[in-house]
Amino acid sequence: MTATRLPELSPETIASAARRVMARCDELARVTADDGAITRVHLSPEHARVNRLAAEWMREAGMTPRQDAAGNQLGLLPADDPDAPVLMLGSHLDTVIDAGRFDGILGVLMAIEVVRLLRRVDDEGRSRSPFPFGLEVAAFSDEEGARFGKALLGSSAMAGTWDDAWWELSDADGTTLREAYREFGLDPGRIGEAARRPEQLVGYLEAHIEQGPELDRRGEALAVVSSIASARRFQLLVEGEARHAGGTPYDMRRDALLGASEAALAVERICRGEHHIIGTVGQLEAFPGAVNVVPGEARFSLDLRGEFDADRDRVWRAISLELDEIMGRRGLRWRAREVHSAPAVFCAPLLQDVVREGIRHSVGAAAEPATLFSPAGHDGMALGAVAPVGMLFLRNPDGISHHPDESVSGPDVALGIRALAEAVAHVGAEPR
Ligand code: HGY
Ligand code: MN
Ligand code: MN
Repeated sequence: MTATRLPELSPETIASAARRVMARCDELARVTADDGAITRVHLSPEHARVNRLAAEWMREAGMTPRQDAAGNQLGLLPADDPDAPVLMLGSHLDTVIDAGRFDGILGVLMAIEVVRLLRRVDDEGRSRSPFPFGLEVAAFSDEEGARFGKALLGSSAMAGTWDDAWWELSDADGTTLREAYREFGLDPGRIGEAARRPEQLVGYLEAHIEQGPELDRRGEALAVVSSIASARRFQLLVEGEARHAGGTPYDMRRDALLGASEAALAVERICRGEHHIIGTVGQLEAFPGAVNVVPGEARFSLDLRGEFDADRDRVWRAISLELDEIMGRRGLRWRAREVHSAPAVFCAPLLQDVVREGIRHSVGAAAEPATLFSPAGHDGMALGAVAPVGMLFLRNPDGISHHPDESVSGPDVALGIRALAEAVAHVGAEPR
C-alpha cells in the first residue's frame, strides 16, 4: 500500500509539533472548575473556554473552525471539491472529575498537528486538503458523561443517534440537559443539524492514550486498536430499613449498605471469572448517612463493559441473579436504572491496516505492531453507527488514567503524530 507522498516531515518538524501538543495539554489542564484538579464537564464555562482555545488552534493550523449544534468544536480543512466527504479526526475535550491531562485532549491536539502537517496551500493561498476528501477535526463535547450520566452525547449527535429522552437527563443540581443546552447558547431544537450522513464521512480516526498498562509492559510506544468495549452503566437502589445503630440486634437488621457492599464484591468476583468483561462500582452512598443509624437505603453505580455485547449482557443477567440472592437473604429490595448503553465497535479492517502502516513508518517496526482491544470507551463507539472507525493507542506509562498521574511522553507523542499522519496519507492513497 503506497501512501500519497507526505510533505517532508523532518524529525525536527515532528518534534516541534509534539512539543506544541504537550504544552497545549498543560494549557488546557489549567481550564478547570476545580482549583488543584482537572474537571471540565459538558456545557460548563470551562467547556466553552476550551472550545474557544481549540478553535483558535484549528484556525492557526489552516482549518475553518465552527461549533456544531451539539457543542462539538470542529475544524475543517476542505478538499478542492466542496461536496467531498471528510475523514474525521479527533477525540474529546471533556474530562472525568479530577482527571488526567491527556485522556481525550491528546487526540484532539495531535489531530490538529496532523492537519497542519498535511495541508497544502493552493494558488489563491487557501489551505486545502491534499486528498480527494477533506480533513476535519472534532473536539467532542461529552465523551465521559460525567455531568448527566449518559456518555458520548456530542459524538452521538454527530452520528445521528440522538435520543430525545436525553433532554430530561439532569445533573447533580437538577439542571436538565435541555436547560444546560440553552444556558450554553445552544438550541435543543437544532440538535439534528449536528448529524452526519454516512456518505459525508470517509471514516473516523482517533489517537488516544491506552489507559491501560499493556504497551508499557511490552515496551512499545504505539498500537493499533482492534475493537472498543461495549458499555452499560446503571444506577442501583437498595432498600432496607433505617434503625438505631445500638439498639437493633443483627438478626433484626435490613442493612442496605451491607447489601450494596456484598453486591460490589459479587460484581468483582463474577467479572474476574470472565474474559474481557469488566465491572466497576465507582459510586456508593448510604442513607440517611448518620454514624448511629443502620443504613436503610444505599445507592451505587455499575459500569459494565465487554468485548462482545452478548457476553456483557449475559454477565449482567448473572449479576442480577446474584443480587436477587444477596438482597433476598438480607430482606432487602433492589432495582436498577440503566443510564448509558453503547455497543462494542470493531475497528474497520482498512483503518486498522492504515494505522498499522503508520506505526511501521513511524517506529520502523520490523516486528508486527501491537494490536489491542480497548476496554476503555471512546467516541468511536458512537461514530461507528455512521462511519468506519480506526484508533491509534499511545503508551500510557503504568496505564494510570482518569487520575492526575496520567502521563504520556513527548517522544511517544512525536511517534504518534508521525504514525497518525502516515495513516491519514494511506487513507488518501486508497482508490476511491
Ligand atoms: O469510561 C471510559 O472508558 C472512557 O474513558 N470514557
Ligand atoms: Mn476517559
Ligand atoms: Mn477518552
